Amino acid sequence: MKALTFAGRRSVRLESVAEPEIVAPFDAIVEVRLTAVCGSDLHVYHEREKGIDVGTTLGHELVGEVVEIGRSLTTLKPGDRVASPFTTSCGRCFYCARGLTCRCIEGQLFGWVEGGEGLQGTQAERVRVPLADTTLVVLPEDVSDEDGLLLGDVLSTGEFCADLAGVDASGVYAVVGCGPVGLMAVLAARRRGAEQVFAIDSVRERLQLAQAFGAVAVNRENSAPLDAIREVTEGRGADAVLEVVGSPAATRLAVDLVRPGGVVASVGVHTEEQFAFAPVEAYDKNLTYRSGRCPARHYMEQLLPVVRDCRHPWRSVISHRLPLEDGPRGYALFDARQDGCTKVVLRP
Ligand SMILES: NC(=O)c1ccc[n+]([C@@H]2O[C@H](COP(=O)([O-])OP(=O)(O)OC[C@H]3O[C@@H](n4cnc5c(N)ncnc54)[C@H](O)[C@@H]3O)[C@@H](O)[C@H]2O)c1
Ligand SMILES: [Zn+2]
Ligand SMILES: [Zn+2]
Repeated sequence: MKALTFAGRRSVRLESVAEPEIVAPFDAIVEVRLTAVCGSDLHVYHEREKGIDVGTTLGHELVGEVVEIGRSLTTLKPGDRVASPFTTSCGRCFYCARGLTCRCIEGQLFGWVEGGEGLQGTQAERVRVPLADTTLVVLPEDVSDEDGLLLGDVLSTGEFCADLAGVDASGVYAVVGCGPVGLMAVLAARRRGAEQVFAIDSVRERLQLAQAFGAVAVNRENSAPLDAIREVTEGRGADAVLEVVGSPAATRLAVDLVRPGGVVASVGVHTEEQFAFAPVEAYDKNLTYRSGRCPARHYMEQLLPVVRDCRHPWRSVISHRLPLEDGPRGYALFDARQDGCTKVVLRP
């Protein structure tokens, strides 16, 4: 079958790879209807995240149809239309029981194979899903493939970030980074009633979307985000900053923007070894820093009713719908933020 594989720094290849097979009793094979390219794939693409084997099938976003099931699966059946979070989870362990499905003791991340160990990704015609009945979510008929796809990653992560930030109706918030996840964080903050959400980026199309989603767009290249936020907070700074980039510069900006006693909620994937702020700054600002991988499986269930209420505009983040064969071009466009590229959805 065809798949997009990692071929070294900034190189993704369309290749013929082995068909996935059931190897454990809780596995399912899913035929991919839609997958996508995520900002997290770019960390791999640029080798900021190191260690992935060349030839690994990339990707972790998935909507598809169950085509084969392992002998111990009881709730899934062939023909089910399913969406997947980007990690697998058992639904039973200490972490799953507390809703932290991203830290399941048996969990694996799609699209990461290192030294021959790990799980192949979803940017392929078919994919093996371990722990399938507690990982996959069967989609109701009134949820479209694209909504199901967004639910499994960007929508859940935006919501998680707003929760980490403790967004409520009364505060002033800044979202640093208006990629698909940052845009979902804007929507999540607005759904919680926040009226003053500043969205910071430098890409025109993304700032326009943030504005359409109800944020005040601030282009960091030609205006100072700190001035804009100070102006409406009597000079204090934001009550919380949602950091959705994953770079030292973004952390630095977030810490500068937040007021004393405020929260920096970071869902950007960080690969650096040191914080971009000093312990003394954290102390002097009474700073709370919260971060981590989104427990997407946990959020998917909570958000299904929101997704079924189809008044929300999140699908407008999808700028490109390409066949899987065009994946290498999709990576390049998304990486360069060219051609108005905000989110690339791939169809095998
Ligand atoms: N925590 C999780 O579970 C989780 C899940 C999904 C994605 N992520 C991470 O979220 C981040 C965003 O993902 P995405 O898909 O939206 O990616 P993206 O790369 O499209 O978005 C990043 C955006 O940040 C902007 N940016 C870069 N530097 C900036 C700066 N210093 N200040 C303000 N804006 C800046 C870019 O122009 C871009 O629009 C990535 O790090 C990704 O790995 C984390
Ligand atoms: Zn992702
Ligand atoms: Zn578990």
